[in-house]
Amino acid sequence: MHLLNLKTIRIFYTIAAAALILISGCGSDEKVPETKTDTSKKDTVSGTADTKSSPGKDFFYMKSSSNNIACADCHGDGTNSDRPLTKYFSDIKGADKRKSTYLGKFTGDDVKKTAGGATLCWEAYMKMKTPMTPEQIELLNGYYASLDTNDTQSEVTYETIALPQEDRAKLKTEQAEILKLTGDPVNGENLFNNACGLCHGENASVKKVPSIIEDFDGNVKSITYNVRFGDGAMPFYKLNLLSNQDIADISAHILKINGK
Ligand code: HEC
Ligand code: HEC
Repeated sequence: MHLLNLKTIRIFYTIAAAALILISGCGSDEKVPETKTDTSKKDTVSGTADTKSSPGKDFFYMKSSSNNIACADCHGDGTNSDRPLTKYFSDIKGADKRKSTYLGKFTGDDVKKTAGGATLCWEAYMKMKTPMTPEQIELLNGYYASLDTNDTQSEVTYETIALPQEDRAKLKTEQAEILKLTGDPVNGENLFNNACGLCHGENASVKKVPSIIEDFDGNVKSITYNVRFGDGAMPFYKLNLLSNQDIADISAHILKINGK
């Protein structure tokens, strides 16, 4: 219900913002990022006077025309912690100053050239068919740099078995461990709503995602595989942010609602 409320508020603000733009006669000289994607759903709930709209910010909040997800749905910029997935993925504050991103996949000049690896997210997670343009990359680097931050880490590190390569042996160990745990479906439902609901839940808004809340024929092992390695547009989850017990709980919930 909480999510529904947020949605209603968001729609209300979007309409209010659209009305304001109409009233003010589109007099703004701000440039809209050059893409065919929908810019009408930019974040208007958490935006405050000191985080004014800018072309870089608009781009960061723009929903993909392919599957309806935005950078801001997964990554925090300091104002969008109300979006549940931002808890699971790196903050972009200070990303322009990092020496290495994506756990070493991008280093040196490539950090700037890929907007910290965002070009990969654009194609993998937002399913955009055409690569990000140099102008869009510049918009993002500019947006990172515009954010107030004390974060001067040269690299963000975390625990995963998905990078630098998928570690199949470790996956097997994890699957065996998770199978031994007893999952709590009630906690699992909460976790599922937060960590998976945007894409797989009853009110999921991301498109081109298989339903796992009905007719799911997977099991604990396959759920663990997807969560730890990611799959296509599905991101991988870190060991330190989603534990094996969490996966056991989420699995218990998914299997329960599927009558297993
Ligand atoms: C479905 C969620 C998702 C979306 C949407 C997404 N990303 Fe990512 N992004 C990830 C994941 C997963 C990683 C790797 C793990 C991490 O850094 O949290 C990542 C990594 C990154 C990194 C590297 C962080 C570091 O220092 O290692 C940056 C920068 C980034 N994304 C920016 C963006 C931008 C900008 C967009 C929009 C064009 C975007 N991402 C869209 C999930 C997403
Ligand atoms: C950003 C959207 C997104 C999020 C968040 C997400 N998934 Fe997925 N998930 C997908 C997509 C897209 C696929 C299909 C992958 C493919 O085959 O290309 C998928 C596939 C799956 C599958 C395999 C489905 C099948 O029928 O084989 C499972 C299981 C799964 N996800 C579980 C989860 C769980 C558990 C979470 C939360 C911890 C989660 N997903 C979070 C997008 C997402």
